[in-house]
Amino acid sequence: MTDKSSNQMWGGRFAAGPDAIMEAINASIGFDQRMAAQDIAGSRAHAAMLAATGIVSDSDASAIREGLLTVLSEIQGGTFEFSTALEDIHMNVEARLKEIIGEPAGRLHTARSRNDQVATDFKLWVRDQIDAAIDGIEALIKALLGQAEAGADWVMPGFTHLQTAQPVTWGHHMMAYVEMLGRDMSRFRDARARMNECPLGSAALAGTSFPIDRHMTATALGFDRPTANSLDAVADRDFALEFLSCASICAMHLSRFAEELVIWSSAQFRFVAMSDKWSTGSSIMPQKRNPDAAELIRAKIGRIFGANVALMTVMKGLPLAYSKDMQEDKEQVFDAADNLMLALAAMTGMVSDMTARRENLAAAAGSGFSTATDLADWLVRELNLPFRDAHHVTGSLVALAESKGCDLPDLTLQDMQSVHAGITDAVFGVLGVDNSVASRMSYGGTAPAQVRDQIARWKDVLK
Ligand code: ARG
Repeated sequence: MTDKSSNQMWGGRFAAGPDAIMEAINASIGFDQRMAAQDIAGSRAHAAMLAATGIVSDSDASAIREGLLTVLSEIQGGTFEFSTALEDIHMNVEARLKEIIGEPAGRLHTARSRNDQVATDFKLWVRDQIDAAIDGIEALIKALLGQAEAGADWVMPGFTHLQTAQPVTWGHHMMAYVEMLGRDMSRFRDARARMNECPLGSAALAGTSFPIDRHMTATALGFDRPTANSLDAVADRDFALEFLSCASICAMHLSRFAEELVIWSSAQFRFVAMSDKWSTGSSIMPQKRNPDAAELIRAKIGRIFGANVALMTVMKGLPLAYSKDMQEDKEQVFDAADNLMLALAAMTGMVSDMTARRENLAAAAGSGFSTATDLADWLVRELNLPFRDAHHVTGSLVALAESKGCDLPDLTLQDMQSVHAGITDAVFGVLGVDNSVASRMSYGGTAPAQVRDQIARWKDVLK
């Protein structure tokens, strides 16, 4: 870090440099250097536009555009010397450009301000992260489809209130997460489409008197159009908040699945075996295999949702247009993005490598009177009982089985008839878990045939 007295970029009216603490609280270079590539892309587009509109000469614009590439390679090569005195990435880049190309560097900032510059850089950065998140989600969906396909007809207990409810299939359970992640993907896509307007050329807040071509820079940077109100453009961080809220919902989904994996891999459940690659041991208890990755994914929602709340709180009372408060946007988004990507990658790895314990799933599927609803439905269908009465009869049969210490299929026909005389032998056909799941053929139901249809649909979607 180099030291300057008054700031060389804006210090014209300042006799003294800032207090050291002022410099520390003011500087963002420690983190916004992550936007170097975006900053340079924005500046190169701006310089090309300034030349095309005759605002700067072609030779100056060429020198600027070439020089910026040199700066970029220095930053990427790790030889660039960042200066806290130069506050942020924008001024660090421009100051170095001046050292490399001299006088023309001073023309780059014509018709723009750091306010529209930072909004543009940050949008470009968030846009890249949205694309990366969508790719990460897609990889996880593919891993889940692999699990679903392998176990489309494997039975397991379905839960409500974490109490055994009705049997479902392993494939169906995996596909539930595919649906959630599919919505996450579409939320990120929606956010991307909404944010894709270019702030560059809004200048400090009011636009500029120079004859700039905002459509040209917007197109060069891959935006759909320029933003339509310069005050809004420099004051807006909705795109960052939308990113954080999409990330929060996605992380919440990952956290729910992580919680299930923690439960399922426990010695009490033994529904899945996590691979060694995703487990850790205990330094004192030799028998332990801890699902640390799942636990950490479960926890990531805390910081991602925290970032969302933090930035909402930063923005909530700000008058138009730009205020320095907004510099607090970046660390929140950077941290949330890093951790979302890490959680997605870890979950994809765990899902790809985990093994469902088919026998244990099947054994658990049949316990806990999981086919009681099938029995009640049979009483409605075959004996024409009103559903409420059927529910009552079934409840009595469950109580009877419980008192005998057995499951519903273990009751004798006489046991059954002692509760309702009309019950016949045919009832035993609906008490098995395989029959139970196969009968749930309603669209979106757990029947293996339905699950396979949904797997095929998703494979088609991702093609
Ligand atoms: N480092 C600043 C930020 O991240 C750049 C914009 C500064 N604008 C200003 N008017 N001081 O927000």
